[in-house]
Formats: sequence, C-alpha cells, structure tokens
Amino acid sequence: MNKEVKYALEYHQETKHSEVSIRSSNHYLDWDNKPQPFKFYTSVQSIPLPVDFPVPTLNVITMKDTDHVSSPDNTIINSKLLSSLLFFSSGITREIKFPNGRYFMRAAPATGALYPIELYIVSENISGLQAGVYHFCPGQFTLTKLRSGDYRLLLSEAAGYDQVIRDSPFTIILTSIAWRNAWKYQARSYRHWFWDSGVITANLLATAMSFGLDTKFILGFVDKAVNEMLCLDEEKEASIVLAPVGIGLSLREPQQAENPAKFVPDIVPISKSKEIEYPQIWRLHKASSLNSNDEVRKWTRSIAMVQDIKEAENNDMKLQSKLINPESIISQPLSNIILLRGSTRKFSRRPITFVQLSNILYSLTKAIHSDFVDKKSMIDIYFIANDVTNIQKGAYFFNRKNNSIDLLKVNVHRNMSGYLCLEQSLFSDASVVFYMMTNLKPIVNTLGNRGYRLCQFESGIIAGRIYLSAYSQGIGASGSTFYDDAVTEFFSPHAKDKDAMIAVGIGIPDYKSKPGKILAGKFSRSDLLS
Ligand SMILES: Cc1cc2nc3c(=O)[nH]c(=O)nc-3n(C[C@H](O)[C@H](O)[C@H](O)COP(=O)(O)O)c2cc1C
Repeated sequence: MNKEVKYALEYHQETKHSEVSIRSSNHYLDWDNKPQPFKFYTSVQSIPLPVDFPVPTLNVITMKDTDHVSSPDNTIINSKLLSSLLFFSSGITREIKFPNGRYFMRAAPATGALYPIELYIVSENISGLQAGVYHFCPGQFTLTKLRSGDYRLLLSEAAGYDQVIRDSPFTIILTSIAWRNAWKYQARSYRHWFWDSGVITANLLATAMSFGLDTKFILGFVDKAVNEMLCLDEEKEASIVLAPVGIGLSLREPQQAENPAKFVPDIVPISKSKEIEYPQIWRLHKASSLNSNDEVRKWTRSIAMVQDIKEAENNDMKLQSKLINPESIISQPLSNIILLRGSTRKFSRRPITFVQLSNILYSLTKAIHSDFVDKKSMIDIYFIANDVTNIQKGAYFFNRKNNSIDLLKVNVHRNMSGYLCLEQSLFSDASVVFYMMTNLKPIVNTLGNRGYRLCQFESGIIAGRIYLSAYSQGIGASGSTFYDDAVTEFFSPHAKDKDAMIAVGIGIPDYKSKPGKILAGKFSRSDLLS
C-alpha cells in the first residue's frame, strides 16, 4: 500500500489551507472537551527520574564545524544523562496561569501548545535504570515501566536489523496521540505529528551533541511491531521516529528477547467526552506503514534514489546571488538557550543583520545522521526578507549547495509574508519568514506514501533548528502555518511544482521575556490534571 502514492497526494491536497477553506470552515473549539496534554497510566506504577542531571553547555548550534564533536570526559551513560536528554527535548520550562486553567510550556515548541508527542525509551541496563521499555511523563518527570528486559534486538529487527540500535544503550522513540492535535487542527493535524516531533528532535539532537553523543534518526521501521512494543492504542496513537542515542556506547550485545505480548494499559482519558475521528489521518498513516523487515530495508535503500532526483533539478531564475557570511559567535550555553526559547508573540520590526541571517542559514546545512538524509536534504528553503541589513528586501532561495542566497523577487511588501502565513500580522512584522518547500511528487513516487512523513518531519527539524539558532543570537522566532498554494504561487516560477511544508518567522521581539526554568519533578498528577 505504501507504493499507492495517491494516498499521500490526496491527503496533502485535501488538507490545504486557502482563503476559501478558512472562511468556509465551521469548525469550533470545544473547550470543555479539550484534550489533556499528559498521558497517565492508571494501573502501572511510575518512578521518579533524577532531577540533579547535568545540563548541556556546549552550544553546537553556533559552532561552525560540528561533524566531530568529541565526547566530553564527564559524559557517563546513566539515568541522569537520560533525564537531561528528556528534559531539554520536552521537559516543562514554564508554568503559565490563565483564568481558565494552567498551561505547562515545554522545552520545544508545539502547534497550538497541544503537545501531541509522547516519548518512550527502550533501554539496556544502565546505571540508575533497569533494562526495559518505558514511557516518559514530562509533567511529573517520571518513567513508567511498560516492559522489563532488553528489547533492543527486537527494536533493531523492526528497523530492518539496524545495527546502530544494538550499539546504543538506549533508543528514544517519539509517538503521537492523534486526538490531542486533531481537536483543533482536524485532519490537517497529521502534518503536525511530524512538525511537532521534528522540533523536539532538533532539541534532542543539539542536547545529545552537546554531550558528545552520536544519535541517529530512523523513520523506516515496521510500524505495528514498534507500536505494540510501546503498548500503544491502535488507531489512537502511533510511533513516528526512533532515535538511538550514544551510538557505540552500549556495554553489551542485546540478547534475543521474546516477542512482546499485546498489552494496552488503561490511561486517564485524554478528553472528558467523545473524541472525533478523522479517517483521513489513519488512511494515510496505514498507507504509509511498512509491514516487514524486508519492506523496511528496501524502503531505506530507495532513499538514495530520491536524492538523485533532487540533484538533477536546475533553476536559473535568480536575479542576483550572494554568498552567506556566517561568523562564529560566542553564545550562552545550550541549556540557557533552550530555557530562553518561546515562540515570539510580537516582533518589533527592527532589522536583523546579514550575519545573523547567515548564521541561521548556515546552521541548517549541518548534517543530520539519519536513515533519510545525511549530508543531503529533501527540503528547499525559501524566504522573504523584510528587514535584514545589507540585503535587499525581497524573496530569496537559499542555495545550500554553494551557501548562497538567490534573489528571486524585489518590491515585496511586508504584508505578503503575513498574508502567506494565514494573514497573521505576526509574520508581517517578522524580519524574515522562511518557507520550507519540497517537490513531493518525485519523492513519494520513489519512497511511497512514507516519503510524505519524511518531508514533513525533516521540515520540523529545520524549524526547530531555526528556533535554536535564532535564540542563540538574541533573535526571536515562531513557527507558522500557511496558505499552501499561495506560497507556491508566490515563489514561482522557481518553486513551481513544490509544496510548502512549514513556515517560521524570525525577528527582534517587541518585549523582553523571562527565561524559563528547569521545572523537572515540580508537579504532581493532580497539579497537571487541574
Ligand atoms: C510548526 C509550528 C507551527 C506553528 N504555527 C503557529 C502559527 O501559525 N501561529 C502562531 O501564532 N504560532 C504558531 N506556532 C507557535 C506555537 O503556538 C507555540 O509553539 C506554542 O504555543 C507553544 O509555545 P512556545 O513555543 O512559546 O513554547 C507554531 C509552532 C510550530 C512548532
């Protein structure tokens, strides 16, 4: 079914935003039925994670060469290190009280602050943690043991016998609870599964690199096998990406484990009343699933062919080209940057510098060790520059092959960037708005429907990197949704045949926000359910 690519293309077409779709929508938010942002098991015990964990100091985002970050001497694989990785990816950094309740904001952004992404760990015995399959609760800062024993071999098998999973002490797995985000974004929320997991991945990757840990991101796996291992509820939640961390640092070869018995533990209901089903989500999810190790291996091998298609593209539509000018900057420690991060709610319309823009663009060229991209990428980066010193206002393409920006259009009114972002004035005020785009058809033709997951997910990682790189330089950022076809039309003819995946605006905030805090282990279940 993965090869029947009509599913991905139809889904994408049907979930596009346009002026008409927005103005004719009669969707309303049922606040009484708003999903809970935390998953609590009712009959399985949880254990507290250590809160005296090391913090990531080295800010790899601002470093020019990050291909060989060596392990600092004090990096020890134990439950404290795991706690740090989990906290700086998705821990609670701010508590905000509103008349209608409390919001628990997190290390990474999330569309609509709905937090559909859950984290699981499949680990060998490490100091402070027995081998097992665990669920991470960021609110209580606890782990719930779902299975005892070392499941890394089975996980590796599910990922087409991936050696890296066996060589790593643990793998962090990101999953999505569909209803959490569908409550607001309906069928389009399937795109958000990958956006929201991509931005968490950007934080996880930066944190792991800061500790000198090698990490890989794996999108090719037998869905059913992984979902069952994690005790997920079928057609309500599903796995997105496997991230083995600390490659090469496992202390023992995993032994053959028994196939896990099917078991879905009871949880505190996510919503008070009925969850609305969006069949388009599950239709595409099933159609993009891989069903055997063999299928996984074939799929992973076919990725190289997509890159050939992209390399063959040639566009001569630029008016002018200028090399970017990145400069090494001395930034605060990564931990401070992640605590400082929050989506900017108002930009000041003050300009950013060309060097700051260059540093952000340069940070997006760094390799992501994964089964889907390494040094290459499926995503093209376009942007509208409203206020950047030393470059003309206009529309640009970032040519990653030669680190240049190609001017595509001049005389672009700043209202255009806001209009394309669903008429949100925030993105007219931004100094620059990035639009991540891709040519979906050849990608899904080669990779099947699963290629769609990959494009959305890589865009999510890029969005997360833009946030971190912007905050490292004292600039604010916010992700955005967009009018799909209007973005393509605006950047055409250069972007003809390409589809927008994600947008992100950056600029100088119009206010000073307080940094977040490490709020690990500060809340009880009843605090979080209030
Ligand atoms: C992919 C993505 C798209 C987003 N889209 C919008 C948007 O269209 N408009 C907006 O105001 N904020 C948008 N946001 C910001 C979220 O609302 C914000 O991340 C969330 O409220 C959590 O707050 P925080 O980022 O300050 O932690 C987006 C964030 C992401 C990651």
